[in-house]
Amino acid sequence: MNRTRDAVKGKIAVVGAGTMGCGIAQALTLTGYVTTLVDVNSEALDAAAERIVSSIRMLISRNQITEVEGRSAISRIVPQSDLNVSDSDIVIEAVFDKVEVKGPLFRELDLVCPANVVFASNTSTIPITELASYTQRPDRFIGMHFFNPVHAMDLIEVIRGFHTSEETMDLTLKLAEALGKKTVIVEDVPGFTVNRVLVPLLNQACVLLAEGAATKEDIDQAVRLGLRHPMGPFQLMDLIGLDVMLDVSESIFQRTSDPAFRPHPLLRKMVQAGRLGRKTGAGWYDH
Ligand SMILES: NC(=O)c1ccc[n+]([C@@H]2O[C@H](COP(=O)([O-])OP(=O)(O)OC[C@H]3O[C@@H](n4cnc5c(N)ncnc54)[C@H](O)[C@@H]3O)[C@@H](O)[C@H]2O)c1
Repeated sequence: MNRTRDAVKGKIAVVGAGTMGCGIAQALTLTGYVTTLVDVNSEALDAAAERIVSSIRMLISRNQITEVEGRSAISRIVPQSDLNVSDSDIVIEAVFDKVEVKGPLFRELDLVCPANVVFASNTSTIPITELASYTQRPDRFIGMHFFNPVHAMDLIEVIRGFHTSEETMDLTLKLAEALGKKTVIVEDVPGFTVNRVLVPLLNQACVLLAEGAATKEDIDQAVRLGLRHPMGPFQLMDLIGLDVMLDVSESIFQRTSDPAFRPHPLLRKMVQAGRLGRKTGAGWYDH
């Protein structure tokens, strides 16, 4: 299962060991990269290491990788709680989607890492140009938007910031290819491509439900059968997390003032009620 990593050599660091950081680190180590996985929260770091080990064990049990490949992939993950990633060639950031968290983190990384190190952010909604402005290397700064779950989703949106150099773009595309992913290059517009298309669709599902046009089950069925989507909008929101959806919608709405992205009051009420989706056991549906 080790893919070729000849095009991009060296060590890679992933900062933020949550849902996405774990998935990205696993993809990197299975491709053969020595991967430093950083988190400020030691419990998150322990949980991440456990999650990656059990996920790799599952691949072994399904004969998708050999025992030896699995063991060597696990040994390439280096968990650490400090930001000493100066020996990495690329740093991929996957911490909370807040400028107040990402900005100071990039400022610190900029001090720690040599000038040639490339920074990639997995942000869903924050402009890459804005995050790059926290560093002295905006030409070596890019967006690398993976999708969840990373092992199952083939796409990476690659976002070009205002100053991103062609060299940085080229390196990022080669890394994505080494990971076995397909890429779409997107300019630095709010929500990039996937969320710009998805949010209005999910919002309209809420509008239809609030209007009493159909039940949520029927709206899901209509979208599955009529559009050949693998999941209906309410099922998808339950998977993504209603709070995540609300944040993404609000962020794009703030940056575009386009009412198509204004979160529907019904979605807001569900979040206030704590019905966040699968992760809390209940969202639009009970799980
Ligand atoms: N969850 C998704 O479906 C999804 C999909 C695509 C992109 N994203 C983006 O990926 C990023 C991470 O999302 P997630 O869902 O993995 O979040 P998460 O909450 O699961 O994990 C974030 C991790 O970052 C850590 N962290 C916070 N501040 C830190 C710091 N200064 N240094 C080191 N670690 C720090 C936290 O302890 C936590 O473990 C966000 O920008 C999000 O928008 C998420």
